[in-house]
Amino acid sequence: MAGKDHKELLSAKLERMSLRQKIGQMTMAERLSTTAEDVRRHSLGAILCGGGSHPGNNELVDWIAMNDAFWQAAMDEEGSPGIPPLVGVDAVHGHGNLKGATVFPHNIGLGAAGDPQLVAEIARATAREILASGLEWNFAPALSVARNCKWGRSYESFGSDPALVARLGASYVEALQGERVIACVKHWVGDGGTWQGMDQGDTALPWEELEATHIAPYLPSLQAGALTVMVSFNSWNGDKCHGHRFLVTELLKQRLGFAGIVLSDWNGIDYLDADYAIAVRKSVNAGLDMFMVPERWREFIDTLEGQVREGHVELARIDDAVRRILRVKSRYGLLDMPRPAHRAKTGNADFACAAHRDLARKAARQSQVLLKNERQALPLGREQRILVAGKNAHNLGHQCGGWTVSWQGESGNGTITGETIWQGIQALAPQAVLDESLDGSGADPRLHDVAVVVIGETPYAEGHGDIRHGDHLFAEAGAMINGLMNPLDAYAKSLVLAETHPEDLACIRSIAARGIPVVTVLVSGRPLIIDAEIDASAAFVASWLPGAEGRGVAEVLMGEHDFSGRLPLPWPGPEHGDGLLVEAGAAFPAGHGLGLSATRQRLGENAIDATSPEQVAGVRRI
Ligand code: BGC
Ligand code: BGC
Repeated sequence: MAGKDHKELLSAKLERMSLRQKIGQMTMAERLSTTAEDVRRHSLGAILCGGGSHPGNNELVDWIAMNDAFWQAAMDEEGSPGIPPLVGVDAVHGHGNLKGATVFPHNIGLGAAGDPQLVAEIARATAREILASGLEWNFAPALSVARNCKWGRSYESFGSDPALVARLGASYVEALQGERVIACVKHWVGDGGTWQGMDQGDTALPWEELEATHIAPYLPSLQAGALTVMVSFNSWNGDKCHGHRFLVTELLKQRLGFAGIVLSDWNGIDYLDADYAIAVRKSVNAGLDMFMVPERWREFIDTLEGQVREGHVELARIDDAVRRILRVKSRYGLLDMPRPAHRAKTGNADFACAAHRDLARKAARQSQVLLKNERQALPLGREQRILVAGKNAHNLGHQCGGWTVSWQGESGNGTITGETIWQGIQALAPQAVLDESLDGSGADPRLHDVAVVVIGETPYAEGHGDIRHGDHLFAEAGAMINGLMNPLDAYAKSLVLAETHPEDLACIRSIAARGIPVVTVLVSGRPLIIDAEIDASAAFVASWLPGAEGRGVAEVLMGEHDFSGRLPLPWPGPEHGDGLLVEAGAAFPAGHGLGLSATRQRLGENAIDATSPEQVAGVRRI
């Protein structure tokens, strides 16, 4: 990132700061628990807007006014160090907390698209929307390597291949920071490798495997200059990353030379020890620099001050943390920028512009993976009488997933701007109809040539997205971990879709039983065991969480573009109820994905050249 390093200015600022002001800089509070006056009085270093947390009416102007007030408070009072806070948000698939923002596919779909250029374009668009809202920092990208799809954050991962995660992650970081929004690679380290895929659980691995699988993906992003790293809730061989001096100080800072900010996750230090003073001391001494203490921030400041005064934490450690924070602020240019309301890109017309929505549509299209295509079910023809059914056919909230408008995600079409998969099909195939009951009961072979059944999961985010066959597993995980856990209710008990969502198979079967070929589109944050659904369908598409531009999904179904998505992880077969993503016995290997040209090959001599979209659409017409 450009910007002069105000080394002397920073040292001078540091020298003039009191211990409490320094600790203030190390503190990140949540906007709901803070006021501008708090920012001034406590010299708070950063503010976060958690999942679903938004100012005012959640319009662009509300966000701009919010950060402007924080900035003003930090700058105008005599006696304060005059350092604006950094304000961050989880724009993990677009600036999803904001009403009307462009919503891109979640990372797992981008892993399927597998294109670093596409990821860079998305990062740039996301950055422009963040800048439009007057903010500076994005808690993205996740460089998680998902190794067990029971993990509810699998969709935040680009896939199970460290090389793929490394490539796409670095592309995101470079593009985001190139547009002047600070990136935060997360969660350091091993979040995707926990036992049973349990969020915040234990990643039990020998060093060599931790390094090759979970650490390696960070290297290109760090080389690209990622300015911040968020520590993970998980443990490594029983020891929590939030208190891990080796992983944070020796490895990340010393060996890998990371000079930016190491940030704790949401209340992440709380689980180190029941005694808060010990938890604080342990995490600061492990090498964390900034602390996401959303509500407890006052107590954090008092506690850390006490720990320094009692000699448990050295002043040199505090100075190192604050120097890093000031260095990032200075490299980013925050100290030279005008107030948020007056910045050149604030309020820019790029927010949710047509070009961004086109990009989201393209990304949705490129992320679709065709797993089965028989009886020439795909592509669909524009003139066909298509019945569209299934609970996820006309539901923007479901197709966007978690971290959209709210933390765990939405249901329905009321809060997100975009087009559902049904609306996308309708726009391209005028004779298509929506089965209003969504359960397939409206299917009639005299009226419908083919059915598109959109099934799958409903939204979830961290913790609540896990699949866990019994709550005793928490106790077992707890016994593996040195510290505390934060139990949250799981999404389901089984990875077998027919057990978790029997309504989906029922819908497919009820339509297929009437002799109508079924094209199934699975909306989900992860691969699921779907043998029964695949068997009952003529064609099957893994759609992931395609985001708010459902027309992208329709475009490949209609053959306007060929399918190009490839599985970013092995797809579990019936014997993989444990969720482990391994090639042996996989239903489909990583890298699998059919194209419509495969259909052409099967059609044999009379095949129509599938290279022209018109002709592809015509296949079904003759
Ligand atoms: C998540 C992080 C996120 C943070 C702020 C945490 O619970 O683990 O990924 O950045 O909250 O919303
Ligand atoms: C917040 C999220 C955060 C989570 C952690 C939620 O209330 O909105 O941002 O990650 O809590 O528990």
